Amino acid sequence: MKRLVILSGAGMSAESGIRTFRDMNGLWEEYDVMEVASIEAWHKNPELLLRFYNDRRVQMLASQPNMGHLLLAELEKSFEVHIITQNVDDLHERAGSTKVLHLHGELTKARSSVDPTLITILENPVMKPGEQCAKGSPLRPHIVWFGEEVPQMDNAIAIVESADILCVIGTSLNVYPAAGLLNYAPKNISIYLIDPNPPEKLPKQIQVIAEKAGSGVEKLIQRIRDVTK
Ligand code: APR
Repeated sequence: MKRLVILSGAGMSAESGIRTFRDMNGLWEEYDVMEVASIEAWHKNPELLLRFYNDRRVQMLASQPNMGHLLLAELEKSFEVHIITQNVDDLHERAGSTKVLHLHGELTKARSSVDPTLITILENPVMKPGEQCAKGSPLRPHIVWFGEEVPQMDNAIAIVESADILCVIGTSLNVYPAAGLLNYAPKNISIYLIDPNPPEKLPKQIQVIAEKAGSGVEKLIQRIRDVTK
């Protein structure tokens, strides 16, 4: 089976009602990213940071995978699909995708602030200040904040380097190192980008599908269908 690699961002979940970051009415219009999504914020004002992620976790649980998520899961019948997502929601998994790598963490999990391997699935979507991990240190959201390393980056690079087809969906390609993954794509493969407002100045190898995720993945399927033969 050909290996189809997807790099998804917040736009992938927009049709599920989950806000993006840099669009009109995006999260970073309402919040100061350094106040709610940085390691400094965790040390300075953990209550505000926990409230920010509690709100996003509750919103995620009230959302459903959209057609784009479902079609990508369906594609596992014809391709070996690897999803590398910047999203912290679990909509790809709930849609049925089986190989999902979260570059920026997962809202459904929390971890010890002294031992990053001590990760727990959150039973209660609302994390309270003062909760502790098994080692007695503060429990923190399992999210990669600004100012922190992206531990899954090497794994993501290896997946992109092995792609037969690459499709970028719903990301403004603003944040590195995630946005730099494009540079690791093999030179001779087809690269698609699905976004109703695609980023400017894209490499010419990229074929833009200027659609929302749902209809855009439908168009992608038409274009790659004959690759499976
Ligand atoms: N379908 C597809 N794409 C969409 C849709 C949609 N329905 N709606 C919006 N988009 C596109 C926008 O045009 C934009 O290019 O999704 C992209 C969203 O960009 P951002 O809001 O910057 O989100 P993202 O690229 O995922 O941000 C990357 O920044 O703040 C950090 O950690 C955070 O993972 C996040 C990272």
